[in-house]
Amino acid sequence: MRAIAITGFGADPEIMQLPAPEPGPREVFVRMRAAGYNPVDVKVANGAMKGMVPFTFPLILGTDGAGVVEATGAEVSAFSPGDEVFGRFADYPRGLGSFAEYGVAAEDGAIAHKPQGVRFEQAAAVPTATGAAHEVVETVRPDSGQTVLIIGATGGVGQSAVQFAARRGARVIATAAPDAEALTRDLGASDTVDHTAAPVADQVLALCPDGVDAVLDLVDPPEAIGDVIRVLRPGGIIVSTVGALDPDELTEREIRAVNLVHRPSGPLLADLAAQVDRGDLRVQIQAQVPFDQLPVRLPDIQYGHARGKVVIEI
Ligand SMILES: NC(=O)c1ccc[n+]([C@@H]2O[C@H](COP(=O)([O-])OP(=O)(O)OC[C@H]3O[C@@H](n4cnc5c(N)ncnc54)[C@H](OP(=O)(O)O)[C@@H]3O)[C@@H](O)[C@H]2O)c1
Repeated sequence: MRAIAITGFGADPEIMQLPAPEPGPREVFVRMRAAGYNPVDVKVANGAMKGMVPFTFPLILGTDGAGVVEATGAEVSAFSPGDEVFGRFADYPRGLGSFAEYGVAAEDGAIAHKPQGVRFEQAAAVPTATGAAHEVVETVRPDSGQTVLIIGATGGVGQSAVQFAARRGARVIATAAPDAEALTRDLGASDTVDHTAAPVADQVLALCPDGVDAVLDLVDPPEAIGDVIRVLRPGGIIVSTVGALDPDELTEREIRAVNLVHRPSGPLLADLAAQVDRGDLRVQIQAQVPFDQLPVRLPDIQYGHARGKVVIEI
């Protein structure tokens, strides 16, 4: 099968002919129709996750995908050939990922049936980013009357986090460069601040002199997140998706700090896809990239100022 893979950390991704994966007894074997790009895919490729888990090379890149079940292992009962599914297909120890013509996923892993009304490309955009957004917002559980600042609101995680927080009735202040301001408000932000114009904390304190109840920080590294913390009221909560926080230090300052590591489940994915199907949740797709073009376009996508999700057509 054709797959986009690397021969080692830091190597350029290239299209390779590799053997199709063999499904285990409790796995489904899926003909991939679309894959979703996530920043973690580039972090894996450049070696940022080296040593955290075993990797086998050639390593097929890609985590999220959607497709049609072609075969099932002998012990699989929840899926059958012909089912349309989506979920996470990365299996680093076996060198497997979603940027390929075929993938495998454990029946009890992060995989779910795709509703008919949701396109493969939309479904492939959901698992990692929308799943993380859901968990970030559920960690904070903001109520009406509370104010939430979302930093990195215009990307894959952010676009869903804005919607989830706004739906709970919170006032959402979102970062957005000028080109993304209208979209971000359309998704539910009450206010936007332009992180490219001036420090976010200064702009937020101008809007909310008493500070905010929660910060969902999807982008800032440890050296930048300290400045953001000054917008939190005492007793507030901050969540980072990039592991930028020192929870012990912040506890001393009466701030709850969470470095979130999200692992979606099949039931959560099914629920999120049902929301997309009902029109309750929007998944903004910035670009659909043909499979053959991904290796050359990946560097641009990586630094591409995401406005929603990039998906790969397989
Ligand atoms: N811990 C977990 O389980 C988990 C799960 C999912 C994702 N993540 C991580 O969370 C991060 C965000 O993921 P994503 O998929 O949303 O990424 P993404 O799609 O690339 O979006 C990032 C967004 O942030 C904006 N941005 C960049 N720098 C910013 C800044 N200093 N202030 C405000 N906005 C800024 C970008 O737009 P501009 O460049 O135009 O500003 C872009 O819209 C990634 O590092 C990802 O690996 C972690």
